[in-house]
Amino acid sequence: MQKYDVIIIGAGAAGLHCAANAARRGRSVLLIDHAKQAGKKILISGGGRCNFTNLYASPENYLSSNPHFCKSALSRYTQWDFINLVAQYDIAYHEKTLGQLFCDNSAKDIVKMLLAECEKFGAKVQLRTEVLGVDYNDDNYRLSTSQGDYNSRQLVVACGGLSMPKLGATPFGYQLAEQFGHSIVPVRAGLVPFTLHEQQKQRFGELSGVSVPVTAAANDGYFRESMLFTHRGISGPAILQVSSYWQPGESVSIDLLPDIEAYPWLKEQQAQQPKTRLATVIQAHFPKRVMQALADEHQWPVDQRLADTSNAQLEAVAETLNHWQLKPNGTEGYRTAEVTIGGVNVDEISSKTMESKKQPGLYFIGEVVDVTGWLGGYNFQWAWASAYAAAEAV
Ligand code: FDA
Repeated sequence: MQKYDVIIIGAGAAGLHCAANAARRGRSVLLIDHAKQAGKKILISGGGRCNFTNLYASPENYLSSNPHFCKSALSRYTQWDFINLVAQYDIAYHEKTLGQLFCDNSAKDIVKMLLAECEKFGAKVQLRTEVLGVDYNDDNYRLSTSQGDYNSRQLVVACGGLSMPKLGATPFGYQLAEQFGHSIVPVRAGLVPFTLHEQQKQRFGELSGVSVPVTAAANDGYFRESMLFTHRGISGPAILQVSSYWQPGESVSIDLLPDIEAYPWLKEQQAQQPKTRLATVIQAHFPKRVMQALADEHQWPVDQRLADTSNAQLEAVAETLNHWQLKPNGTEGYRTAEVTIGGVNVDEISSKTMESKKQPGLYFIGEVVDVTGWLGGYNFQWAWASAYAAAEAV
């Protein structure tokens, strides 16, 4: 049986970063993954350019059943630390929008860098390795795998969440946590497009590909970005962001005119151009097709002249323009979700080291933990920061 100081399961963002940093501290490290390739999600992230961090990352950008949990790790390994690492490898990057940093060339640059760090410090990366079972005896973890048995004093679980099973996502991390007495905060898909009920799907599906600037809100989530109509429903950054705050059965509130208070604006238009049709006035702000679909959905009297439109009618139109209540049928689920919300209960792990409070030498890092970032580089920043916290402790 081969012995290591530390075994890490999952060669994704968190596992790779933890392996390199633990090895840098002189630990013998084995990083294993069942996939053929390390960092598969990194490779497809950010449209192939990896939005690897966010200039403004802070604890407010994360959802968790304990919002304070992420503070310690995020403050001890910040976006600037990762940016420094990227700079050391001469990886060219740019800010796209809202502090989101992307590689100029390819996400491959980030994976190569993480693997180079593992190699530099001597962490062994072993792919195509299925973990068949994990036992704990005499202060040691014993892993039986498809490539043989391994032993370590410390075990780091970096198996990620459930999103994109096609890329190798499994519930293994949660199962391992449960095996050692941990509770799991119920998981669901986050940063995911909404699907609509059949009638709305047909009506708005015809707008597929059209994007409009909105403010979208659900529960405590409130995001001003764009919304995209799709064949199945709605997506785009504003919608992906609120999906993480939404619960099944609820409506999403969408402000289609985020800079304008619609009712006073419509009254003003009525006074200034009474002979103009309601459709013409609204079309100044939307593609005609969007206006028509909304009008059909809400029976707006769009062919009427403003002078003939009652206050009650204008109020109803204004209410929809500023507070469109759209009740999704559901989400596209883990198939397209960028993240999994929920996970290993943070009350049962140390926020400083990521070590289990129930089981000595067992650590949880990255997305498997009940910490989920917004869209925009925040999830990778959590992966880097939580990985570093564990690497400093193992
Ligand atoms: P990650 O999923 O990266 O790695 C888990 C690893 O564990 C995988 O390699 C998997 O094969 C392995 N594994 C799972 N089960 C196993 C088992 N039973 N045995 C062995 N190995 C096992 N975030 C961001 O900040 N910026 C972005 O641009 C994007 N873009 C993006 C696009 C898309 C399409 C997706 C799906 C996600 C993103 N994300 C993102 C989110 C980001 O990819 C995610 O939060 C991190 O990859 C999480 O890192 P982890 O290391 O925790 O899991």
